[in-house]
Amino acid sequence: MSISEGENVKGRYLITTPIYYVNDKPHIGHAYTTIAADVLSRFHRLKGEQTFFLTGTDEHGSKVAEAAEKAGISPQQLCDKNSQFFRNAWQELNISYDYFVRTTDQRHIQAVTVLLNKLFSAKDQKGEKVVYSGEYSGLYCVGCEKFITEKDLVDGLCPSHLKPPQSLTEKNYFFRLSSYLPLVQKLISEDKIRILPEEKKNETLGLFKQGLEDFSISREKVTWGVTLPFDPSQKAYVWVDALPNYISAIGYGDNPEEFKKWWSGGKVIHLIGKDILKFHNIYWPAMLLAAGEKTPDLLFVHGYFTVDGQKMGKSLGNVIDPHRLIEKYGSDATRYLLLTQFPFGQDGDIQEKRLENKYNSDLANDFGNLASRVLKLIKENFSGEIPEPEDYQKEEKELQAQAVDTVRKVFDYIEEISINQGIDEILKLVRLTNRYVDKTAPWNLAKAGDKSRLRTVLYTSAETIRVISLLFYPVIPQKASKLRETLGFKEKELIPSLEKEKDWGYLKPGTKIGEITALFPRLSEKEKKAVEISKEKKMENQISIEEFAKLDFRVAKVLEAERVEGAKKLLKLKVEFGEEKREIVAGIAEHYKPEDLSGKTIILLTNLKPARIRGIESNGMLLAASEGGNLVLLTTDKEINPGAKIS
Ligand code: MSP
Repeated sequence: MSISEGENVKGRYLITTPIYYVNDKPHIGHAYTTIAADVLSRFHRLKGEQTFFLTGTDEHGSKVAEAAEKAGISPQQLCDKNSQFFRNAWQELNISYDYFVRTTDQRHIQAVTVLLNKLFSAKDQKGEKVVYSGEYSGLYCVGCEKFITEKDLVDGLCPSHLKPPQSLTEKNYFFRLSSYLPLVQKLISEDKIRILPEEKKNETLGLFKQGLEDFSISREKVTWGVTLPFDPSQKAYVWVDALPNYISAIGYGDNPEEFKKWWSGGKVIHLIGKDILKFHNIYWPAMLLAAGEKTPDLLFVHGYFTVDGQKMGKSLGNVIDPHRLIEKYGSDATRYLLLTQFPFGQDGDIQEKRLENKYNSDLANDFGNLASRVLKLIKENFSGEIPEPEDYQKEEKELQAQAVDTVRKVFDYIEEISINQGIDEILKLVRLTNRYVDKTAPWNLAKAGDKSRLRTVLYTSAETIRVISLLFYPVIPQKASKLRETLGFKEKELIPSLEKEKDWGYLKPGTKIGEITALFPRLSEKEKKAVEISKEKKMENQISIEEFAKLDFRVAKVLEAERVEGAKKLLKLKVEFGEEKREIVAGIAEHYKPEDLSGKTIILLTNLKPARIRGIESNGMLLAASEGGNLVLLTTDKEINPGAKIS
């Protein structure tokens, strides 16, 4: 079955990415799914289909609260700051999302509350309550935000986070998953909930055979979360809060019409990594069924990649920040390179050298070069006007047929979320066109003065390049638009339309082409540019003596120090410098005991804007040096009176 078939309205899609945890900055793993979802959304838009592309950040739970505490700021401050990092990264990568959901948004919290109430009052087919209270005792990994069993541990540690789990016993509310398992299993087996690739469907079905237990939907000891409406002493389990982002963002609980339009009035496609398969393929459909809602139409589970053969992780120091790739390759090439390292759906490895080679071979040589040599020939021989073709010969007819066929093939692949096969087809057309140009050798035709044949060859080449710009647009939107601009398209036409452009002959002879610049300069030249840019950036970060003089650093003396209640890492210090006394909050409790601090000389930045940390107003910042996990306070070399200015 094609995903555009089925009983729902054709051509309306809700396309989602997972919402990413804000305890971390965006890395290329997050970028990978988000770029894929963007490419998919753009292809659907090209077909003229209504598309709602949703992404966002997952902001509740102990993982985020702990990261905030470590940073010495409130959880909300951490969420605001880090959520913005994701938006910035998506802007740089030209991600065309329609909505950015945050689980700390009131609208989302409200929707989760509505859903929780619905689940709480729901009864299963046997008339039993879907949500029941019980006691849970088990091992919990904060990194995974889930309970894990002894058999999951490796040497007593969570294998993903290399940390020992906590043991927890608490009152929890449970979701009666058992009541919905047979139906979810049936829906998956019959492809009513379609899971791609096929092996991930089988993996999901395997989980039913292993047995699945009811899961707890609340936490007693977590403070940073959505309060259960039926028991204010509990917070919603972070996954029970996160999964409903897919419906809160489209109006669940506050805009029934909008919600219906996107949830049941079209196809719902979730793109996820294989790490979160169980939550999405089993728990989420079960929750939806219990709440009386439709289940998702398609879950595409992609693989995980390693970096140079190793798992990407902070502890290994090999996390790749998308900014670094964008700086080196540019935004479009980063999108292209990340998607083309290995087939979407399988696991793979990312290697820097391979990225470079692929950039040079596919983008600089094959595609960029094709565009510039054809356009240059048009400039030189026809004063920059697209020539009128004359007699199409066998070679032209073949290339035309290939171009039209490639359009069909690419859209068919994308329909099945076979993104790599789609891109491969585009590149095949690029290579065929290069071969056609080599074979017909228009430079020789120009030399021989065969204008008639030259017109036909250059029109055919330029028109195939136009088809390539249509197909490449969702993958490399900026460069494809630039190429289209050079081909003479006006602003409105820079975003192509499949309906208008799927056939041969859309490019009008006589159109004036624009200025030709290299679309993807070869890496060595580009790298030089990147070095210049990073020098400029360094210069931008340099500050003048005048700017430095604005910072009012003083020698200060600690009068008292005490722990901040409920915060492992924070100390509240009363300090004195000159005539003035101040209170500051500092994240040094893991390195200094309060009793060791009184009387100590410290260096204080005094003219920092006050900040509220854990409800305490902090008026200044002390200086400390840190390396690895070690932290020491800066002090003076000899005795000097508090209040002395540092210059
Ligand atoms: N917050 C949850 C998801 C809730 S969705 C209702 C979460 N967040 S996460 O920040 O950990 O992001 C996980 C997702 O990031 C993966 O499912 C995948 O989409 C992406 N990836 C993270 N690392 C990756 C790789 N190394 N390789 C490929 N994708 C990766 O889980």
